[in-house]
Amino acid sequence: MDGERTQTQHDGPERPRGWAPHPREQMLITPLVAGLGGLLAFFTVVFIVVWLPIHTFDPPASLDWAPLSDQAVKGRNLFAQNGCYVCHSGYSRPQDVRESLYFLYPKVSQPGDFYGSDQSPNLLGTERTGPDLSQESGWHPDDWQRAHFYDPRFVDPLSLMPPMKSLFSDTQIEQLITFVETRSGKSGLLRYAGQLYSKHVVTTNQGFPQPYTGFQGAHKPILEGNDKILNPPKDQLEEAPNLAQIDRSYWLSANPLPVTEENLLRGKEVFLQRCVGCHGIAGDGKGPGAAFMSPSPADFTSADDACCGGDTGPGDFYYRILRGWPGTGMENFGDRLDIWRVVLFVKTIPNHTLRKNVVPEPKDYIVWQPSKELIAWLKSRQKPTGNASFSKKAVTDPFMQEAMRVLPGLAPGDKFLLNDGKTPLSLDDAAAGIKAIYQDLLDRAWNEARARGNKLPPEVQKAIPPTVPGQQ
Ligand code: HEC
Ligand code: HEC
Repeated sequence: MDGERTQTQHDGPERPRGWAPHPREQMLITPLVAGLGGLLAFFTVVFIVVWLPIHTFDPPASLDWAPLSDQAVKGRNLFAQNGCYVCHSGYSRPQDVRESLYFLYPKVSQPGDFYGSDQSPNLLGTERTGPDLSQESGWHPDDWQRAHFYDPRFVDPLSLMPPMKSLFSDTQIEQLITFVETRSGKSGLLRYAGQLYSKHVVTTNQGFPQPYTGFQGAHKPILEGNDKILNPPKDQLEEAPNLAQIDRSYWLSANPLPVTEENLLRGKEVFLQRCVGCHGIAGDGKGPGAAFMSPSPADFTSADDACCGGDTGPGDFYYRILRGWPGTGMENFGDRLDIWRVVLFVKTIPNHTLRKNVVPEPKDYIVWQPSKELIAWLKSRQKPTGNASFSKKAVTDPFMQEAMRVLPGLAPGDKFLLNDGKTPLSLDDAAAGIKAIYQDLLDRAWNEARARGNKLPPEVQKAIPPTVPGQQ
């Protein structure tokens, strides 16, 4: 019967005898049902991956977490309003933690680093056109930050970051700087405390005033050190305080590269690309960024300094460029630069090799000639015994670790005076000073966060000492 119908009614495809007809059901997935189903699926996914985590993911504060001060919160708002996160992410990933590439990212961000109401809206960002800034605190002093914000080309002629000179007032730029200098948790506060302590050491030692604040450096004369207020202790090598900021194993290193025209020319190229913003196109320390800084950038034009200054040996210059000079605007270039060649070149500057179209020649190179006393002093202190970095006993106190980072040339027993003749310089003094600054920064941030009514972790979190990432 069935077969007959199929053959007589021509309403379907021919099918073999005995096969069941296709049921005449109505289609269930109408456009309305599909639309509703799609919406349901969409909102389920949004609920699971957006709403639930926002309302239930509340990791406790990490051991490194610290709140922001009022000034830093204002700076954070400026950071958000001006879209800085479009170029700068705010969290570092495992693949970012490497010392040498562009910038020192010392640790991987933890969820608990972003605890509390200061962190909303988040500034995590995704793009890294500029470096990740989650660990920016303390790598540079405030005066470097001021020159850099005014015009990034003042410190890094190759930078593509937009200048901020017309965006912010003097007050706002200080707020923004407080934010970048204190946003990195306790380990960042420790580094910043080391930077502030070192600023005190270098300005006192060289007779410099405090740097100009805000963007005033753009319109003021370059600061000068005042020799008259200095009174170097008689029984101490004059360079001792300066050498205290250079790792001892570099004090007597010679330049491993030969002085050839090729090497010098490459050095000149690096100098013009990287150093002229501060040290000046003539090498006289009068670059456009110079007036922001105290101490002001070094002048390389004196032949006496190139040959006979106590802390201007090639190894000393190398170390200053590799690790920077904490407390000054001199930055840590790490091994992203051709350092030895630029060191060779710097020693030719007194012979006018920075002039346009001048190719520096080996005869322009000024050989370092330290005095006999200096050599004897350096050699007597280079013995591995008594050298902090050779000690078998690992230092665990974070404040001492930071003191050793900013004063790598001091041995535990060294006790010097700064060139003002009265301020003591030793690792113990530095560790105590850094600890006091750190504690003050942390206490102030906690008190202000509490007054703002922020959610805070239990008070014990605050007492947990900071760690120096990478050295635990
Ligand atoms: C167009 C992308 C861009 C924008 C927008 C931008 N930056 Fe940058 N920033 C960079 C680049 C590239 C660098 C690296 C070169 C340099 O140091 O100038 C940098 C460097 C920095 C550094 C120094 C990092 C170091 O070397 O220690 C800080 C701090 C900084 N930016 C803060 C900010 C702030 C705050 C804002 C917003 C007001 C901002 N940036 C906006 C691209 C940008
Ligand atoms: C952001 C500004 C800045 C930049 C960029 C900079 N310097 Fe410096 N530099 C300084 C300051 C500030 C000092 C400290 C001077 C002082 O305290 O006497 C200094 C000191 C030095 C010293 C130590 C001089 C001495 O007498 O011990 C050397 C060497 C040096 N810079 C080389 C360089 C080289 C090479 C470059 C480029 C690769 C460079 N600097 C880039 C600011 C800068």
